[in-house]
Amino acid sequence: MRKAIVVLVLVAVAAWIHLNSRVPVESGEGADRATREVEIDAQLGESRWPGEADAADSIASLIGGSLEKTYPPEKRPVRRDAHPKAHGCVRASFAVNAELPENLAQGAFVPGKAYAAWIRFSNGASDPARDDAKGDARGMAIKLMGVPGTKLLPEERDAGTQDFIMINHPVFFIDDPQQYLTLVKRGSSSNPVVRLTAPFALGLEGALIARTVASKKIENPLYTRFWSMVPYRLGDDAHKQAIKFSARPCVPHANDRIPSDAGPNYLREAMAKTLAAGEACFDFLVQPRQSAAMKVEDSKTEWMESAAPFIKVATITIPGQDFGSVAQDEFCENLSFTPWHALPEHRPLGGVNRVRRIVYEQVSMLRHAANRVPRKEPTGEEFPLGATRR
Ligand code: HEM
Repeated sequence: MRKAIVVLVLVAVAAWIHLNSRVPVESGEGADRATREVEIDAQLGESRWPGEADAADSIASLIGGSLEKTYPPEKRPVRRDAHPKAHGCVRASFAVNAELPENLAQGAFVPGKAYAAWIRFSNGASDPARDDAKGDARGMAIKLMGVPGTKLLPEERDAGTQDFIMINHPVFFIDDPQQYLTLVKRGSSSNPVVRLTAPFALGLEGALIARTVASKKIENPLYTRFWSMVPYRLGDDAHKQAIKFSARPCVPHANDRIPSDAGPNYLREAMAKTLAAGEACFDFLVQPRQSAAMKVEDSKTEWMESAAPFIKVATITIPGQDFGSVAQDEFCENLSFTPWHALPEHRPLGGVNRVRRIVYEQVSMLRHAANRVPRKEPTGEEFPLGATRR
């Protein structure tokens, strides 16, 4: 018996070391399908993880399978696999600073320009009925509209939208797509013992980050700071650099006063109360990378603000509004956000983002097809402010 335990421990340690010692490889002979599909930007430090495109396909089909199981025809609509609970989609304006240095005045960041935007605030957990008072990652997904230029996704190249997707923590818990696949495989196993081992797929550092992210409690999404977690390119070929971005409330709030009588949906109620009384606003910040030690294939290490300061590039204003109509919630449910709804100047970087390109598209297609609703990007004409609601 003791021998068996020792062997089990050794196998577990070996598996842990194996999962945590994988490094990205250069592209070249034998590089997988994504090498041809999603170009990597070696100048900005991107390199490919072994088998990443196959891992992305497998992650997408496992998520698809689990959505079909969770939402059989009698339980439709199919919701998002991640971040299914929306606190609401609100109208906003995204006003770029009147002046910006040339290296930041790139892509959609045209000095003095203002865009109409939709912003979806969400909880991260896959259970859309989960009580807001429980710890969870919180999401802020911004969609600018009226953005000219050819976009990255070939099928949506003419869309006028540019998305910025964030969570209320500066780092993500995984780099290696194979590790994410192991996590999803174990997490969706029908064997409860295998499901229990899912967090071990993350390694110690990843598991600690995941635990921190999943235990966040907030008072109001409009008082919360959000980060891109993973890096992006900013700029055309002459100005390109690796950046992360963040949205920080314009006015500092304590953001820890969770009401003692908080109902399961108190975050939606908090947003509604704030926006019934007036507007809310965020500064949109860009964090240029300052050294090669800030690696684009490493999602787990924070780019410390002390070494790489954030610079404000735009102001997000969320005017006072009533956002809670049934029709607006349905519109919100049917939106699709992806980091790849983007101009080439805002190209997502790193293995996590390359996986997201495949997964978000396939999962969004699946839920729209199952729900028999068209996938289309908004124009900004929807639900004008001040119009009569039902
Ligand atoms: C490999 C890593 C990841 C996978 C596989 C993944 C998967 C997903 C999926 C399947 C959705 C639902 C898409 C839809 O049905 O339209 C989603 C939504 C979302 N994800 Fe991720 N995700 C990953 C990494 C991240 C990271 C690094 C962030 C950090 C910002 C993030 C933030 C979000 C947010 C905020 C949403 C909700 C967007 C909305 O409001 O519609 N995810 N993710």
